[in-house]
Amino acid sequence: PITREYTLVLARTPLAPDGFQRFVWTANGQYPGPTIRANKGDRFIIHVQNNLGEFATIHWHGLFQKTTTFYDGVAGLTQCLIQDGTTFTYNFTAGDQYGTYWWHSHYSAQYADGLRGPLIIHDPNDPYLNDYDEEFVMTLSDWHHTESEQLIKLRMSPGYTGFNPIPDAGLISGRGRYDCSKAPPGSNCTQDNPLAVYSVEKGKRYRFRIINSSAEAPYTFSIDQHPLRIIEVEGENIKPISMNKLNIAVGQRYSVIVTADKDVSNFWIRATIVKQCIHVSPQTININSALNYQVTGILRYVGAPDEYPNTQEWDEKILNCRDVDHNLLKLNPPRPPPQTVTDNFTLVITFAPTQDGVGHAMINGSPFIPELDDPTTNKLMYGGDETPDQLDKDQNAFVYDTENGAVEISLVNENIAPHPFHLHGHNFFVMGHGDGNTPDPSQFNLVDPAVRDTVTVLGNSWTTLRYYIDNPGIWAFHCHIEWHVEMGMLGQVVERPSELKGDPIPPQIKSICPPDPDDNNNNQ
Ligand code: C2O
Ligand code: CU
Repeated sequence: PITREYTLVLARTPLAPDGFQRFVWTANGQYPGPTIRANKGDRFIIHVQNNLGEFATIHWHGLFQKTTTFYDGVAGLTQCLIQDGTTFTYNFTAGDQYGTYWWHSHYSAQYADGLRGPLIIHDPNDPYLNDYDEEFVMTLSDWHHTESEQLIKLRMSPGYTGFNPIPDAGLISGRGRYDCSKAPPGSNCTQDNPLAVYSVEKGKRYRFRIINSSAEAPYTFSIDQHPLRIIEVEGENIKPISMNKLNIAVGQRYSVIVTADKDVSNFWIRATIVKQCIHVSPQTININSALNYQVTGILRYVGAPDEYPNTQEWDEKILNCRDVDHNLLKLNPPRPPPQTVTDNFTLVITFAPTQDGVGHAMINGSPFIPELDDPTTNKLMYGGDETPDQLDKDQNAFVYDTENGAVEISLVNENIAPHPFHLHGHNFFVMGHGDGNTPDPSQFNLVDPAVRDTVTVLGNSWTTLRYYIDNPGIWAFHCHIEWHVEMGMLGQVVERPSELKGDPIPPQIKSICPPDPDDNNNNQ
């Protein structure tokens, strides 16, 4: 193992990913941000130099941060904010994790403005290494022309009865195409923006690492005439399965192998936002009149002309936002789930206005709203003096201090919309799901359930997860729809806090926190 050192310089840069120019929150001037790569076992040292003119933090989505919960990057939970004009250094390993991950801002809705990029860990012993010749990393994202701060202000303004902000475009690996005739007068917009093009050689096999880094939109992904052979789901190898169309929710990742075995030509790559899957009212959707919205890219065989494809979409219709059937995603090699649990929680998801008239997204009746300008909440919980009892009283904290065994979390979605839930610090077995609001253990798969770190909980349904208790820390557990996080749909799962107390915290972590008025017996 070696050390991989990266510097991410965060700044606002005028870019036009879909032809429409706006200030994009960039890392090293680019969108999507740079791909961070390592081999299994390597150490990451990542310097984040914040020149954004506002606060920032960076989270490494999918990495477990064993013994380093304080490098998990969640503003108001595991770290204090990185001030403008300063540099903060993350320093962690991914242990024996490998596969397809991503990084993004975990402060406010900043990642919707562009602060996101891939993170790939190669395994020299990957069982599928001989199944492909080359690889591509592909990000899917929705895209807004308005800065997220304004979008949130509107979404959360008192009395607002609308839905989530409507994307102006979708992007494949940072490229999309906006119809400039819809742009407000005076904007800087270039028609027919170039699409993402993937160049392949006939006869070769390609691994596409596909990451949905949207703020909200789930995608249905396909490549005309080219089936997708799925081999990896969020860092777990699976027994390969072939699909023509693949649903991929926000935060999820898949590796698929595509064989370039067709005639030398051009083929459409399609990523469709199914209209019913984003929380916009039918009257306000503007991305493509009343139809589903499709983002395109091109799979171009070497030797094919520089032209648009003339290919037909796969015949099957997918008009839902369900995850790929979890019963198809079999771990390779197999690994059984916990048969019994030592602790369990039920988390009920609802929306409700509070007295001030602002809509909030709730877990068990309360929203998580970090007050980051308040030094008592912009703090580092790790290593604090709180007992589990006190932690329970913190906003949306679910605490288990069990020494061994496994925990079970049931998500009960009493809302009509789907929510893609992501757990930090772990991945989990998806034990079962079903309609209604009563988890049914008789539906659990106790033999060979799927393992992932982000799962879609459909409207008016439940999903139950299990994982082993092996990573003391403070772990965010939230809907990955950025607008819902801002409205409070986040819980903190506090794992074995008794083991966190008194652990040495690198001084640079505490040094960026404002002085805590409660901290009168500070012995750090
Ligand atoms: Cu992708 Cu809480 O993060
Ligand atoms: Cu949600």
